[in-house]
Amino acid sequence: EKEGYEHFMLKEIHEQPKAIRETLMRRLDDDDQIKLDGISLTLEDLENFNKIYIVACGTAYHAGLVGKYAIEKMARVPVEVDVASEFRYRDPFVDDKTLFIAISQSGETLDTLAALREAKRKGARVLSIVNVVGSSVARESDDVFYTWAGPEIAVASTKAYTTQLVCMYLIALYMGKLKGTISKEYYAEMIAELKAIPEKVEKIIEKAGEVEELAKFLYNRDQVFFIGRGIDSAVAYEGSLKLKEVSYINSFAIAAGELKHGTIALMEPETIVIALASQDRLFDKMYSNIVEVKARLAHVVSIAKEGNTKIEQESTEVIYIPNCADEVTPLLTVIPLQLFAYYVARERDEDIDKPRNLAKSVTVE
Ligand code: M6R
Repeated sequence: EKEGYEHFMLKEIHEQPKAIRETLMRRLDDDDQIKLDGISLTLEDLENFNKIYIVACGTAYHAGLVGKYAIEKMARVPVEVDVASEFRYRDPFVDDKTLFIAISQSGETLDTLAALREAKRKGARVLSIVNVVGSSVARESDDVFYTWAGPEIAVASTKAYTTQLVCMYLIALYMGKLKGTISKEYYAEMIAELKAIPEKVEKIIEKAGEVEELAKFLYNRDQVFFIGRGIDSAVAYEGSLKLKEVSYINSFAIAAGELKHGTIALMEPETIVIALASQDRLFDKMYSNIVEVKARLAHVVSIAKEGNTKIEQESTEVIYIPNCADEVTPLLTVIPLQLFAYYVARERDEDIDKPRNLAKSVTVE
């Protein structure tokens, strides 16, 4: 069933254009309006919610971090993102004015399920973003927003993440439009941006060879840092998790502005730093952070939008992603990071689809 691919992880990375298209198009009608089908989220509901909790584990949690940016920006409601194993034990402020969003590929992660039950018990409305139809999380939620990623076999999550992002954007846009916190023009622009993503992902995958070369060069290092600002920091966490989980390299992600509050002490000549610099809005700030680590002679691999060649001055290598709006960059910047994790693990000859000590779904606490 690997259809000629050496590993499920690589196959699933390649399936992303299709999975993203599927998740998006199933929720859009002929006029590009978002259909919620079975889900009822009325204006009255939205006006009743005074906060949203997004709760998940691992990669799904990282999708939630991006969801926070999207919902806060587009629907103007405060969002807190929490790892499920923490949420449950901290007596969170949940009542009938809370929308609780659970994200889970498998729908069987025990911590996520327990957090969901706790939120429900306290009166929250529960919406879940789930890949496996009929799974426990799906069954116990008031409403389910399915990702259409298809079965994900590799332990390292790839296509589930990008389709979870699509759902987050759709929910944020739906809410923003209904509440009137975004304009019609902005809505149309964002839908057009999302529709253009599958082809752009394909373009990045076509250039996988560049990432493979980089991996061949860097695979035997013992630590890697990921930095970014804003939405790029959320993707930095995901890139770091992906790398450590399949290659066993010690990796660390941090919001770039935090570097100088401690972590920069670890920078030495040849330290590997993967710098995400996709946000036009934050580019100058991010550029300064790259200058800071480069001054310590770090080996900087930057990820930036096409045409942004200024970054070459301070980077050892640059991986370009196709141009797109700042809001949707996570759907593109994560692809080279997934490929990097994959190729590094392959160079190291690790058991990519079944990394040691990990299970595809964690059904114990
Ligand atoms: O099935 P879930 O989405 O609830 O799983 C959550 C995490 O266990 C999962 O994302 C894990 O972090 C992956 N191995 C990451 O690649």
